[in-house]
This record gives sequence, structure tokens and C-alpha cells, in this order.
Amino acid sequence: MRIGESGPTALLIAGHHEVSALLTDPRLSVDRHSAGSALRGSCPALFANESAGLTRSLSELDPPDHTRLRGMLGKVFSPLQVELLRPRFELIASELVSAFLPSGYADLVVDFAAPLSVRGALDFLGIPAAEQAELMSEGVATAPGSWEEACARFPALHDYLTGLVAAKRKGERSDPHTPDLIKDLISLRVNGQELTDTELSSSVWLLLRGSTYRGVAQAISGAVLALLRHPDRFEELRADRSLLEPAIDELLRFADLGPSVVVRFAREAFTIGDSSVRAGDPILLDLTAANRDPRVFEEPDSLLFDRHVNPHLSFGQGLHYCLGASLARMELEVALGALLDHCRGLRLAVEHADLPSRENWSGRRLLQLPVLFEKA
Ligand code: HEM
Repeated sequence: MRIGESGPTALLIAGHHEVSALLTDPRLSVDRHSAGSALRGSCPALFANESAGLTRSLSELDPPDHTRLRGMLGKVFSPLQVELLRPRFELIASELVSAFLPSGYADLVVDFAAPLSVRGALDFLGIPAAEQAELMSEGVATAPGSWEEACARFPALHDYLTGLVAAKRKGERSDPHTPDLIKDLISLRVNGQELTDTELSSSVWLLLRGSTYRGVAQAISGAVLALLRHPDRFEELRADRSLLEPAIDELLRFADLGPSVVVRFAREAFTIGDSSVRAGDPILLDLTAANRDPRVFEEPDSLLFDRHVNPHLSFGQGLHYCLGASLARMELEVALGALLDHCRGLRLAVEHADLPSRENWSGRRLLQLPVLFEKA
């Protein structure tokens, strides 16, 4: 697989055991500075946020920097804190469903999954209400068509985030009555240490990215699409809501949308199976393929809500296991719950093959999901 338009060929690993082992292999780094210069030159998109100064986020740091930052962010991002956010997400979901319910038609990416995840994220981060509409209109809310489009937004987003962090440090642009994760991160002290401005804006950018077009919005759309193609499973959920929890893990395993390939760089030369890698070589770990490995999952291409174990890798594994996994699960529960409550007979309004999506080396993104339904 090529990592850039004309970039070097990267080794692609797809088996579950192999991907799982490499996700925790200390010979691999997440730090793009470990990449060979050929990659740096040929795939500027991979380095775009670096030029915008958003370089100190968890997903690009190795220990010991990663350990310190992850320990700090984990303090303000616990499952308990996520539960406190549930009512707000439920309210947003109910507002969005009420808006499209009378027409019997909706685009579940544009009218539902994207605004639910984005509005929720802007709220809990403490982005002032008056600034949210502008940020959304500038495209944070929508799935960018390509990496290039996403990269083109970095400088403006970087300026916005550094300005916001500076204002919040001075106690400005904060509402004491609403959640404000950025303010919580600013006041955080662990063993006398605090987050630097670069760490703060990089972390906020990463949380925003996971919560929005790269993460939850795609996961919700992918889960709904899988259910649309398996209407019997959708009815199973309607009949027994206690299935929702295992169903969400199965939908995360099954849906071939969202972030599916993660990249690592070899710190040293070694061999993986029959392939030799050199120091600096990129290695792509295909989480989607690993999730369908028949050596691990019985009937991997079936959507089954009664799997006894479901060791899917959709949230990664090891040190870099998704920090937002509890939030993502909660948002999926809220989103699917709202559709089950209000819509019957959900079906695609276009042929499956005509669904607009964009694909690059890191995964496929659904741009629209037009559906028809009856009011439940
Ligand atoms: C269903 C939606 C989501 C999926 C499928 C997903 C997937 C992933 C995956 C696969 C990784 C590991 C990447 C790697 O190993 O290189 C990851 C890491 C991460 N995710 Fe998510 N994510 C989702 C939602 C979120 C949300 C909602 C947030 C935050 C609000 C978030 C924040 C993060 C962060 C901060 C990391 C980096 C953790 C680290 O490096 O220690 N993600 N995510």
C-alpha cells in the first residue's frame, strides 16, 4: 500500500494476532520524526499539523512524554466524567431527530451523526456558544473531503485554539455554568507539573478530531449503515435494548468505516514474518482487516450480537488505546437509542453503491447517508 500520492510503499499488516502484537511492540514508534526522509518528502499530509504547531498530541508521542501526558489527560477524561455528559448528548440527539422526523427523510451523516458529535464535543470542551456556529461553518463539523482539505484547515484551527487557550488562561471566554474541559486541563496539576500551551492546543485538536469527523461521526454512520443492511438486527435491538451494549462492540468490529488503519514507524531494522523493515520504515496496521480475521472471529462477516468475546481492535490496543472509547460508546448508545425510539422502517433512500464516500490510505469516510423512515 502507498502511504502518499506517490510515496514509498509501506508494509501493511492485516492479521489480528500480528496487528495486536505490533500495537504493543516497543520497536515501533508513533512519532513521525522517526519516519524516513522519503516518506516526509512524499506525504506532506502526514506532517501538516506539524507545520501548524499541533505537534504534541498523545497520538504522536512515545514514552516517557506519552506516559506523562496520557496520565494527565486521563484525569479529566474518566468514564465517570463521560456519564455526566450523557444528558447533554441525549438532548442534542432529541433536538436533531425532532427536526427531521416530520419529513420522513434524513441524511444521517449531515443531519444527525456529524452535528451530534460536533455540538457535543464543542460543548464539553468549553467552546463558547457564540463561537460554535462559526467553527462549524468553517468546516470543523463536516467530514473533510481529503487530507489536503483537512490540512488546509490546520493553520486557522491552530490560531483559533492557541487564542482560546490563552484567553481561558486569563479566565476569559469561559462560562462558569457549563462544562469546560479546556479550563479543567489548564488548571490540572500532577506532581507539580502542568500542560504547556502547545500540549494543550495539540490535545484539544486531537480530542476534537476524535470526537468529530474522524471518530464518532463516522462510527455512528457506519453502525447505522450496518443496521440498515441487517434490518432483522435493528428489530432485535428494538425488542431488547439490553443488547445495545454488546451490539455496539459488534458494530464497531463489523462496520468498515471510520479510522481503520494506524501508522507506526520502525525504530530499528527487524523482520516481521517474511518481510524485513529498515529503521524509519512506515508500517500500516489495518484494524478493519484484523477485525474480520477468521482465526479470531467465528463467522467474521456476520453481524452477531451474541459473541461471547469480541476482542475487536477498533479502539486500538496498548499504550495508545483510544482515550475517548467510553465517550464514543456513550455517543453510539445515545444515537442508536434515539433512532430506535423515533424511527420505524429505516431504509436507504439511495442504492448502497451510490452512497458518497471518500477513501484514502487511513480509511473510508461516508459523506452522506440518506434514509427514509416512518415515525415510530
Ligand atoms: C468510535 C469512535 C472512535 C474510534 C473508532 C477511535 C479510534 C481510535 C484508535 C484506533 C486509536 C489508536 C490509534 C493508534 O494506536 O495509533 C485512538 C486513539 C485516540 N483516540 Fe480515539 N477513536 C474514537 C473516538 C474518540 C473520541 C470521541 C475521542 C476524544 C474525545 C478520541 C480520542 C483519542 C485519543 C486522544 C487517542 C490517542 C490516545 C493515545 O495515543 O494515548 N477518540 N482512537
